[in-house]
Amino acid sequence: MKIYSTRRRPHRPARIVLDGLGKRFPGAAGYAVDGVTLDFAAGEFICIVGASGCGKSTLLRILAGFDTATQGSVTVGDEPITGPGPDRGVVFQDYGLFPWLTVAENVAYGPKQARMNRDDIRETTGRCLETVGLTRVRDSFPHQLSGGMQQRVAIARVLANRPAVLLMDEPFGALDALTRTDMQAELTRIHRDSGVTVVFVTHSVDEAVYLSDRVVVMAGGTAHGTAGHIREVVDIDLPRDRDTTAPEFNDYKRRIDALIHQGNRAAA
Ligand SMILES: Nc1ncnc2c1ncn2[C@@H]1O[C@H](COP(=O)(O)OP(=O)(O)O)[C@@H](O)[C@H]1O
Ligand SMILES: [Mg+2]
Repeated sequence: MKIYSTRRRPHRPARIVLDGLGKRFPGAAGYAVDGVTLDFAAGEFICIVGASGCGKSTLLRILAGFDTATQGSVTVGDEPITGPGPDRGVVFQDYGLFPWLTVAENVAYGPKQARMNRDDIRETTGRCLETVGLTRVRDSFPHQLSGGMQQRVAIARVLANRPAVLLMDEPFGALDALTRTDMQAELTRIHRDSGVTVVFVTHSVDEAVYLSDRVVVMAGGTAHGTAGHIREVVDIDLPRDRDTTAPEFNDYKRRIDALIHQGNRAAA
């Protein structure tokens, strides 16, 4: 008997609205982030950049439901966030894979939790492994794989839950430059094919300009004596298939770099 099938359910990308969001950690003198108001359209690819300590991870953790805001509100697909959920797939720099499970078992984990039937689990797992090019190593264990491949498993694992939103915190930060470039191209393709909304934190301005529809530049942070806040939101008006050597690409990089550093000087 089919109790629960999500096989044919498409990704339903969600709009994300942050309204006057603030976070003050217990015992902290000031706010880690304050007054963050943003509206991400369903299916948008957003990168968040800014100096260390400006509150990028705090924002992402609130979206993931790992932390709660102390001011303002945040909704994903018009629903207030009450905790973590399979509608939001989270990928961090350390892959967080289950070392005792094979690649395929790691990917099948979410669908099993969701009590998908066996055929649907097999189909979903196969499709997600194919999406990230890992079919060949489906029976390997995480420790047998390179960092780039482990990060692909982590991405396949969250895709298997058919998330409305992908939340990524410096996911490619530990990869070598070539692997990182490959992963960026792959993520662009996954985003195009799935239509999922992506919020991606990165230190790399290059990466942000390559990936995003819009780049959110944050500034401040308690180390600078202020709360983390939005400095500017930059629309990246470039064709999707981006030429990283084009003058326009470099113009965006320079502009965003300047915004990041201007934030530091103003607060120093
Ligand atoms: N669990 C926590 N308890 C207290 N302060 C924290 C906690 N997590 C982060 N902070 C503080 O909040 C600020 C923003 O941190 P974070 O969001 O990690 O910045 P980023 O990711 O941009 O480097 C920093 O000043 C940091 O010290
Ligand atoms: Mg961080």
